[in-house]
Amino acid sequence: MISVTLVGSGNVAHHLAQALDLAPEVQFDLWVARNPKAVDLKVNTIVSDGLGDAIKSQIVILAISDDAIAEFSASMSPSDTLLVHTSGSVNLHDMDKKHSRGVFYPLQTLSKKRSVDFSTIPICIEALERKDLDLLQSLAQSLGCSSKIISSEQRLALHLAAVFVNNFSNQMYRIAHEITDSERLDFDLLKPLILETAAKVQYLSPFQAQTGPALRKDRKTIKRHLKQLANENHRLIYEILTKSIQQTHGK
Ligand SMILES: NC(=O)c1ccc[n+]([C@@H]2O[C@H](COP(=O)([O-])OP(=O)(O)OC[C@H]3O[C@@H](n4cnc5c(N)ncnc54)[C@H](OP(=O)(O)O)[C@@H]3O)[C@@H](O)[C@H]2O)c1
Repeated sequence: MISVTLVGSGNVAHHLAQALDLAPEVQFDLWVARNPKAVDLKVNTIVSDGLGDAIKSQIVILAISDDAIAEFSASMSPSDTLLVHTSGSVNLHDMDKKHSRGVFYPLQTLSKKRSVDFSTIPICIEALERKDLDLLQSLAQSLGCSSKIISSEQRLALHLAAVFVNNFSNQMYRIAHEITDSERLDFDLLKPLILETAAKVQYLSPFQAQTGPALRKDRKTIKRHLKQLANENHRLIYEILTKSIQQTHGK
């Protein structure tokens, strides 16, 4: 049995709380939210607005904003607990060194409004001592997740790659949505294409999967598209990405 306290009431905390609550080998001791009203999930644990001094869990997970992690860890009293954060971009050493420290980063996009099968999420773990790595590995396993030991530097690179894969792709969907709306077209028409784009890279490399006017060097089509784009920023994005595709493919 692994005992856990969770801090935070945002997107990650919401999904982690659900997974911790359901895991038979996890004892979910306490859920700490500075605004307990933000906790909109029913779980079998105590919800509190503070951690208190007597931390009894083996692991305390800080699922709070990146910028709050260092200060929060400094405000905590030293204890025998392993303190971990869930961030893709905060260095393990940013947490106060009076604690045993680690990282438990779920590599997935998580929103309260969207349910996920938590067991499909790979967990990137990091710790300074072997016994702490073993504990984090066991916790991931208890949640049904795979885990991988990743250093802070590697995690930063992974997070950067994830921003391209997820956040930037999503902004592309947003721009596409504006374009379909401008012609009163249904964005749903693009959904099979969105799904196939993601499915294709499960089997082909992104290099092999590329198609389109930039790759084909269809100059007239590119010129027409640029003329169609009323938004200056969208035009710049189109030009930069066209150039990037052509450089990648040596055109
Ligand atoms: N969402 C994702 O897709 C995702 C995926 C992997 C990792 N992460 C990482 O997981 C962490 C949490 O992300 P999130 O998306 O769950 O963020 P979020 O939804 O914005 O929630 C942030 C949480 O941090 C709390 N918080 C902020 N400052 C605090 C402070 N000074 N003291 C105590 N609590 C504080 C907020 O409390 P209030 O509600 O009271 O403001 C809120 O509960 C971040 O490190 C993020 O990088 C996020």
